Amino acid sequence: MADEKSENYVADIHNTAYMGEYREVLLEHTGLLNIDGRNLESLNGKWHFCVDPYDTCRRAHWFKEIRLSDRGVEQPVDWDFDAWERVTVPGTWNMQAPELYWYEGSGIYMRTFRYVPQKTGERLFLCFEGASYETSVFLNGVFIGTHDGGSTPFTVDISGTVTTERENRLIVVVDARRSPLRVPMDNTDWFNYGGLYRDVYLVRAPAVYIKDWFVRLVPDGTFSKIKADVDVSGGEGKVILDIPELGIEGEISLEQGRGSGVFTVDSQTLSLWSPENPKLYDVSFRFFPERAGPEDGDRVNDRVGFREIKTRGQEILLNGRSIFLKGIAVHEDHYLLGKTTNTETIRAAIRDLKEMNGNYLRLAHDPHDRRFARIADEEGALLWEEIPVYWAIAFENKNTRRDAENQLAELILRDRNRASVIIWSVGNENADTEERLDFMSGLAKKAKALDETRLVSAACLVNHEKLKIEDRLSEFLDITGVNEYYGWYDPDFDKLFRILSNTSAGKPVLVTEFGGGARSGQRASVNDLFSEDFQEALYIKQVATFKKFPFIAGISPWILYDFRCPRRFNRYQEGYNRKGLIDADRKTKKLAFFVMQNFYKER
Ligand code: GCU
Repeated sequence: MADEKSENYVADIHNTAYMGEYREVLLEHTGLLNIDGRNLESLNGKWHFCVDPYDTCRRAHWFKEIRLSDRGVEQPVDWDFDAWERVTVPGTWNMQAPELYWYEGSGIYMRTFRYVPQKTGERLFLCFEGASYETSVFLNGVFIGTHDGGSTPFTVDISGTVTTERENRLIVVVDARRSPLRVPMDNTDWFNYGGLYRDVYLVRAPAVYIKDWFVRLVPDGTFSKIKADVDVSGGEGKVILDIPELGIEGEISLEQGRGSGVFTVDSQTLSLWSPENPKLYDVSFRFFPERAGPEDGDRVNDRVGFREIKTRGQEILLNGRSIFLKGIAVHEDHYLLGKTTNTETIRAAIRDLKEMNGNYLRLAHDPHDRRFARIADEEGALLWEEIPVYWAIAFENKNTRRDAENQLAELILRDRNRASVIIWSVGNENADTEERLDFMSGLAKKAKALDETRLVSAACLVNHEKLKIEDRLSEFLDITGVNEYYGWYDPDFDKLFRILSNTSAGKPVLVTEFGGGARSGQRASVNDLFSEDFQEALYIKQVATFKKFPFIAGISPWILYDFRCPRRFNRYQEGYNRKGLIDADRKTKKLAFFVMQNFYKER
């Protein structure tokens, strides 16, 4: 480690602790603005971009754009933001140029924007829907903050830094490197995309604004009480909750800017949300400050479904009725878009689910785009949403724990007004150690604290020593998820029946993964690995076994579409995980798709 006191010390090249200053301001869920129902001024489009494999923008403070030395002499700078090529935001850099396909370092984005206030005292926020993985934001030469996490939203209040005098210069460094200390860590079974791959917007709000709200049916089995929490950025006054179609116009008084109210509704008139009846109500929150001037106050609108999800013994109850989750898992990976998505792609996935006679999707392994839950609310699909606490996380590391807890909070704050989301998952296939138990039970408790209305789960591993479904984490979960690959990774298929027979599940069990690979169009015998025939025969055996165990409350085979995976390079996979029931083209169905279609039709 170079010593600053050495007389030939040069910070730009010797300061190995350079990230210190950029880790002092972390952008976390505590600063997250609920942007649903607000006017979003898009910053999407062409941004200047340059790779930065040595992270020099942050090491050498390029973002300050200092061209002259202290004595006013021009310096030979190495940056040229306005001259750099442009890439499209939202978009992973990997899919925008062949030379960037495998790039996993830091990338520098830059664009300008003008700001003209519309109201005196208004606040201005910069909102990122998702950037992978560590993102440092600079505005007009000033460091604003750094966000950890590759798939959850974060907000930056730039009111104090934005200028009306000239073009604002926004520079964003996104570091996509994998690390054993990140969430996920550096070894996963999917492709590590990088960049500003989701939308970026500017959002205006009044000087005192509605920062967040949470409105839901009280899960007490009466379907007659709606609870609303509201958080007004430190303001005093009152908030009116309006749900006109339910005749609710309820006042919520504020204490230090926060308030809560419970409002009765006639359970006969309330149309409960479900996949078969995706009923959404117009909801609005209006804020009236104590000393209101003509321009004061705030209003947000949303469309919300009201439903109750609970467990009873081994059953999952939706609105009091036992349901079977007829699902499938899905990654966000797209053969053309990378990890970026759009409404057509989301609607197509829900269409494919319904064609399979399904009602439920496991969004793996990290929070998908915000629009997925919004569209699932409208089209009627149940969702499992998950943070990427995947495989061997550094459970003993304090910052790793902070990062995971923050990603969970950002996910829950983003989607807890979405009826389609019924399960928060705190992870996938983690070895059962003391550190993992402490870390993940902590996540489960945090999920419950942020949202008392949903179920908490995780995709656990079978105890292959005792040959049963048993995981100490289950005690902290409402539902035990279990991944099993009997008939594929473990050829001894009979173990599945033995394991399920050995299991005395006191709570619902979801088979959160099963399956096997098949190259679309590969036809052979049922004994030939990676043939559609093998995959079909495996699925037939799997679903026949599930039918014998009523404690299985749902299944989500792995996986709807083939997806990119840089760990799978045999002639049938060629860089893809081919366990999809539909090819990566998101069109060509394999034989096993129809096994699930028939199985779900019968349920
Ligand atoms: C694991 C894991 C998935 C992975 C799958 C597979 O269960 O959860 O992320 O892709 O198995 O091996 O295909």
